[in-house]
Amino acid sequence: MKHNRGQWISNLGFVLATAGSAIGLGNIWKFPGKVGLYGGGAFILTYILIVILIGLPIRLAEFAIGRAAQRNVVGAFHVLNRKWSFVGGIGILNLFVIMSYYCVVGGWVLKYVIAYLTDADFYTGTVTYQEYFSGFISKPVEPLVWGLVFLILCIVIIVKGVSDGIEKVSKKLMPLFFVLLIACVVRSFTLPGAKEGISFMFRVDWSSFNTDTLVGALGQAFFSISVGMGILVTYGSYAAKEGGMIKSAMWICGLDTLAALLSASAIIPMVILTLGQDGLTMGGGFAFMALPNVFDSLPGGRIFGLIFFILLFLAALTSALSVLETCVAFMIEEWNMSRRRATVIFSIPMAVLSIGYSLSQSAARNINLPWFDLSSGIQMLPMNAVMEKFTDNLMIPLGALGFCLFVGWSWGTEKAWKEICPDGNVPAFFRHAWSFIIRFLAPAVILMILYFTLGKGQGLS
Ligand code: PHE
Repeated sequence: MKHNRGQWISNLGFVLATAGSAIGLGNIWKFPGKVGLYGGGAFILTYILIVILIGLPIRLAEFAIGRAAQRNVVGAFHVLNRKWSFVGGIGILNLFVIMSYYCVVGGWVLKYVIAYLTDADFYTGTVTYQEYFSGFISKPVEPLVWGLVFLILCIVIIVKGVSDGIEKVSKKLMPLFFVLLIACVVRSFTLPGAKEGISFMFRVDWSSFNTDTLVGALGQAFFSISVGMGILVTYGSYAAKEGGMIKSAMWICGLDTLAALLSASAIIPMVILTLGQDGLTMGGGFAFMALPNVFDSLPGGRIFGLIFFILLFLAALTSALSVLETCVAFMIEEWNMSRRRATVIFSIPMAVLSIGYSLSQSAARNINLPWFDLSSGIQMLPMNAVMEKFTDNLMIPLGALGFCLFVGWSWGTEKAWKEICPDGNVPAFFRHAWSFIIRFLAPAVILMILYFTLGKGQGLS
């Protein structure tokens, strides 16, 4: 069967879609939690260095594969070198697991939008937001229903092939998202008692730096800029053959990191004020427990809160669409399926996994799954922790390593660079630096991280 492959009408379409993929729940839901967990300033600095030195170059490598092969993430290797197809397979597996929990958290966002609109408990102050949130996720059924609504929305959009429209709308609204985030940062920095939170974030205390910081920063950075799973291979394959790619990659990584930093700045001082220093170790969920407090303390806060969660929903949706599109493109092209069939067949087992993730915070809280590392051996952890560790700390780094080794040592950085920068108008220094990173630096850092993940144990994500 010959498939009609889409193509971006303009470079802008490509930038929009890949930016939409990067900015999402990772920035607002995951990042602040990890800053709290892994020691503030030292984590942030490590994170930024990893984005610039490793994440950005791997983004370019992935993109080059896609543009050269003009195929999905697995098919690209069939064109370039079949032996490496397993790297595409790792990407798909990652996306499958990520999508299953992304939908659940996307559902939480939807719940908050509706709560802002209709739920009296939410704003009469009868319960704190922390109680509200834990009450909600510990219900067995309700979070599942919201997650399902989120998933169905994604399915409908992908089947109808209208994601471009969504990207356009969300791009138009993204500046507003940043404005609101900045307003929250200003508010949260001027709260009485905010000093503790600010210094936690910006004082780089190397005594809080350890291998966990490194593992956490790498996993989070790759997750957030959508690297190591072949998103960029797929989207790069829809890109026109001319035009360089470096500038847009820098913009996207920059904006993504800015969104993460702003959201941590808005959230962390409020976490310390409402939950105390110990609250920092609670990890995920800060956006749902602390941010509404920040809005409440702003004039007109309820409206801002509502708008913010609507925008967060859009950001989550565009990220989820990139995950689904990458997997569906693979199934359509490699397994000769129709778009509708591929979407449904992918989504059903994934939804089953979602149920596990969601219930592991409620009814199935005490059912644990094994996780292994060489120092503590087999440990039993809650399913949601195992799923996030599996993707962030193990499989995403592994996938990224595969892309580096393939481009650096098999396909060749020369050929890849021609795809990244077809006009050759970038100083040779950048080509050499990039090639050194892809061949040596990035693989070495990722191998070290994998050793720490499996060899030395690591805190909960
Ligand atoms: N990068 C997205 C975020 O930060 C999530 C994502 C992960 C998207 C993996 C695509 C692939 O929310």
